[in-house]
Amino acid sequence: MDKELSHFPVMVNEIVSFIKPEDNGIYLDCTFGQGGYTKAIFKISEKANVIAIDQDSDTKIFVEEISRQFRNNFFFFCNKFSEIDKILKKIDQEQFDGILLDLGMSNTQLNNPSRGFSFEKDGPLDMRMDYKNNQLTAKEIINNYSEKDLANIFYYYGEERNSRKIARQIINYRTKEPINTTSELSKIIKKVNFDKFKNPSTRVFQALRIYVNDELNELESFLNKSINILKRKGRIAIITFHSLEDRIVKNFIKKQSELSGQLKIITKKPVIPSLHEVKINSRSRSAKLRVAEKI
Ligand SMILES: C[S@@+](CC[C@H](N)C(=O)[O-])C[C@H]1O[C@@H](n2cnc3c(N)ncnc32)[C@H](O)[C@@H]1O
Repeated sequence: MDKELSHFPVMVNEIVSFIKPEDNGIYLDCTFGQGGYTKAIFKISEKANVIAIDQDSDTKIFVEEISRQFRNNFFFFCNKFSEIDKILKKIDQEQFDGILLDLGMSNTQLNNPSRGFSFEKDGPLDMRMDYKNNQLTAKEIINNYSEKDLANIFYYYGEERNSRKIARQIINYRTKEPINTTSELSKIIKKVNFDKFKNPSTRVFQALRIYVNDELNELESFLNKSINILKRKGRIAIITFHSLEDRIVKNFIKKQSELSGQLKIITKKPVIPSLHEVKINSRSRSAKLRVAEKI
């Protein structure tokens, strides 16, 4: 595989040390990607069982390799993780010893220009993880949503301070011609935004991706179901990559430990990657891992 499209699993050692995979244990990898965490579980215990989910049908090529080796104890579902109830009905299983979520997109998605996730690569404005079923693309939003709606999306999902100015520029541009590509959008954003530390397009692209894939609702919906599908003493480990996701996870774990008393907080503060990991995998730099255990 092209090195750029390879995905290095973030904090994989930390994940397995918290989840502690065991023979005959059953684990749910909600964000399979290239299967980094699933492989790490099987490396520790070949007799563990893994149910893996990913909404992106392109991940199926990584499923085959693991399926061949672990035919009887690995099952993959191409679904959204919020559809867990539907998946559980198909398998004879109700609860898990460990649940893993590694949110956001993989390198395979980010670095493939045809998926339209990256402002550094020219491609169609797409950004759908589930491109087979989701009809809403970033192009549809950028070319058809009102100025106010665009500004709100950039502000709420990207925490973009220049949201209104960028929305105005987009409207000005699209009255002349449609905005079709990531490079065209990036050029428009650069007319308004200047950032010493980040690419000026980072926040708008993040906002569009979150909106296209309904990421925050997906996360909340899954978390609300997660307690019931976790065994007693089972653990849930979640890696987030921006403050909007981390806030949802933090508040959920806090509420379930303080109010309902169903979870025990295992990581008082979020675990972050080592300097060494950040050096060899810059994508890991904003990762935060939170872990809780069912009481
Ligand atoms: C950061 S990657 C995970 C990488 C994986 N841990 C590995 O080691 O290869 C996130 C993956 O989760 C998938 N994903 C994101 N949101 C999802 C959702 N709501 N339901 C199912 N899959 C989702 C994406 O398609 C992507 O492949």
